[in-house]
Order: sequence, then C-alpha cells, then structure tokens
Amino acid sequence: MIETKGLIKTIGDKVILRGVNLTIKKGESVAILGPNGAGKSTILKIIAGLMKATSGDVYIDGLNFKKDSYEMKKRIGFLAHNSFLYDHLTPLENLKFFGKLYGVSNIEEKAKELVNEVGLGFFIHDPVRSFSRGMLQRIAIARAIIHDPEILLFDEPHTGLDQEAIKLLNEVILKMKANGSTVIMVTHDFQQAVQTCDRVIIFRNGKIVEDLDNVKNNLALVTARYTEQVACL
Ligand SMILES: Nc1ncnc2c1ncn2[C@@H]1O[C@H](COP(=O)(O)OP(=O)(O)OP(=O)(O)O)[C@@H](O)[C@H]1O
Ligand SMILES: [Mg+2]
Repeated sequence: MIETKGLIKTIGDKVILRGVNLTIKKGESVAILGPNGAGKSTILKIIAGLMKATSGDVYIDGLNFKKDSYEMKKRIGFLAHNSFLYDHLTPLENLKFFGKLYGVSNIEEKAKELVNEVGLGFFIHDPVRSFSRGMLQRIAIARAIIHDPEILLFDEPHTGLDQEAIKLLNEVILKMKANGSTVIMVTHDFQQAVQTCDRVIIFRNGKIVEDLDNVKNNLALVTARYTEQVACL
C-alpha cells in the first residue's frame, strides 16, 4: 500500500502541493490527470523518493524514505520525462547497467529478453544516442521494469510512441498489473488512462479535486468530471 500524508511542496514562495493525502492499495492502477503545472510530476517524484516534500510523509507498506530509502527504491520502477539512459551505451549495456544497480540475477538473459519485448532486438548493439524519441521511450520503459518492480510510477509514458508501441506499453502495464504490481500513471491521454487504469485522480493547483473509482473504459465519465473541475478555474 502507498500512502501520502499531508504532502506539501513549496519552492521559494511558490506552493506546488497543498497537502495531498492519498491511499493506493496494492494492485490498484491509478491514472493522475490534470492541467499543466498542477503538480502531477512533482507528486510522482516525491513518491519515487527523487524529491523531498517540504512537509508530510510517504509510506510504502509502512516503510518511510527517512529510514528505509534503499528498500523502497528497489520496489519502484520510475519512468520520467528524462529517460535516465546513457547515450553512449547500447540498449543491452544500459539495461545491464541498471539491472546490476538493482541486483537483478540472470541480468544478461533478462536484458536481452526485454530489448526484444520492446521491439528493439534489431538495434541491440547500437548506442542509444542514435535512437529516435519513440525508440528511446521504448528502452526507457524496459529500464523502468528491469527489476520487476512492485510499483510502477509512469510520467506521461505514451508520449512519443507510435500506435504499435502504445499497444506494447499498455500490454506491459496490464501484464505487470496482472502480476500484482501497483501502477500510478500521470497522463494527458484520457483514452489510455481508462484503458489501463481502474481509478482516476484529477489534480488541480496542487490538490486532488476528484478521485474516481471503477472508471475502466468509462471515457465519458472521466471527460465530464475533468471538464467540470478544470474548466471552472
Ligand atoms: N525545480 C522547480 N523550481 C521551481 N518551480 C518548479 C520546479 N519544479 C516544478 N516547479 C513548478 O511546480 C509546478 C508543478 O510542476 P509539475 O511539473 O509537477 O506539473 P505537472 O502537473 O507535471 O505539469 P505538466 O502537465 O506540464 O507536466 C509548476 O508550476 C512548476 O513551474
Ligand atoms: Mg509533468
């Protein structure tokens, strides 16, 4: 279970998160929607342990970053705007590098399998600096799941992907979910949100303004609530 309690984030005199309380049960899949600047990426980075909250806490299965940072980070797969890849390394070398950091066993085999799974088998030995945006995104997805994380935190994962890669990504998300992983995905793509997630949370101005459960494939409801919340600025 992931819990955030009273998360506040300020930078200078700017208030980015205004007290966010959120509980996400193991195995849930949650999409976070909201306009630009609402604080979506910020809360994801705080849950991932990459940014500190000004006040408030994040608990994962009762563990807290202040005491159990490494234990928690091993459970998390984070896909951000930034791919975290080394551009002079090949997909295989990148995956092996990150796999070793997480202590993945059978890393050579696992990395090859993933490169093929994301459809880049043909480019396995090319440095990623020559890759297109969509190719980079594919390999970034593989990097985020190399250690079979229990929690997937994805920030706009569909951006830059072609139709085939979108399908592939959704399959990865649904497969991880079927294996019991928890998924939190920030997105502007409502269609992908309702296709892969059961719950939708809408952020506005650093706060949760809607929390909708059982919205799988219910695009009409999500669009209507979003318009109500975000258009009434
Ligand atoms: N390092 C920083 N310094 C100052 N302000 C920041 C910093 N990082 C984020 N912000 C501000 O925090 C607010 C929320 O940013 P955040 O990236 O979380 O928004 P978002 O909801 O992910 O938006 P988008 O949909 O555009 O990705 C924005 O107003 C942004 O300008
Ligand atoms: Mg963002």
